[in-house]
Amino acid sequence: MVYNPKNFELETTSIWRFTERGKWATHKGDYRGNCPPQVPRNLLLKYTKENNIVLDPFCGSGTTLIECKLLNRKGIGIDVNIDALKIAKERLNFKFKTVYEPKLIRADSTNLQNIIPNEKIDFIFAHPPYSNIIKYSEDIKEDISRLNLTEFLNQMNSFSKECFRVLKKDKICSVLIGDIRKNKNVIPLGFNIMNIFIQTGFKLNEIIIKEQHNCKMTDYWKNKQIDFYLLKHEYIFILKK
Ligand SMILES: C[S@@+](CC[C@H](N)C(=O)[O-])C[C@H]1O[C@@H](n2cnc3c(N)ncnc32)[C@H](O)[C@@H]1O
Repeated sequence: MVYNPKNFELETTSIWRFTERGKWATHKGDYRGNCPPQVPRNLLLKYTKENNIVLDPFCGSGTTLIECKLLNRKGIGIDVNIDALKIAKERLNFKFKTVYEPKLIRADSTNLQNIIPNEKIDFIFAHPPYSNIIKYSEDIKEDISRLNLTEFLNQMNSFSKECFRVLKKDKICSVLIGDIRKNKNVIPLGFNIMNIFIQTGFKLNEIIIKEQHNCKMTDYWKNKQIDFYLLKHEYIFILKK
């Protein structure tokens, strides 16, 4: 198994483009809406040191946690869906000279009061559902991908407060999120969420534009007559406590 990416270079500008999804270690692109491992790798190398405690509150298939294991960070992955955690567990099941095995916890990240104490975390990478454009479950009450836009933004408000509470002072919370389109109009989900975090008290350090490649919906729309542009970018907000 190849544990480290070939030709990996740290990003230096505010526009990120990964045309090939990274395939090192156990990374795979088959979990709906998962992110390329180049994203957490870049963020971990820029904003954390070895032994730091890293939280991924919407860990899905475990992309961030695999990188934590490879880079000797103490990863904590939370997801509300046990099926996601099973996938993450399988992907973390590889031998590597690591000091820390990431922890996986089933919980609702909009309320972590009984799970993570105040000011415990050195870095957060959050990749929430993009409102309800991909539903991650049919019947999990706390799954925020089942909510309408207003309810979703309310829950993201609670979530941002939890991020502020669990993060150490001066540390970074990063959020990967894209906009969505409804009835041909764009809903600026990214900026809505950015503003929620700013209102919670975070300082906005960076807005990074990440191009979207290998997106299933691009194939769906490819040969259809449409009078709007396909959304092909997402944001990574870098927010400091
Ligand atoms: C966009 S995916 C994350 C993908 C992940 N970055 C990866 O690379 O696999 C969003 C995840 O949020 C989870 N989720 C939804 N509501 C949640 C909640 N209230 N608390 C924790 N996780 C939640 C979903 O089950 C889903 O796995």
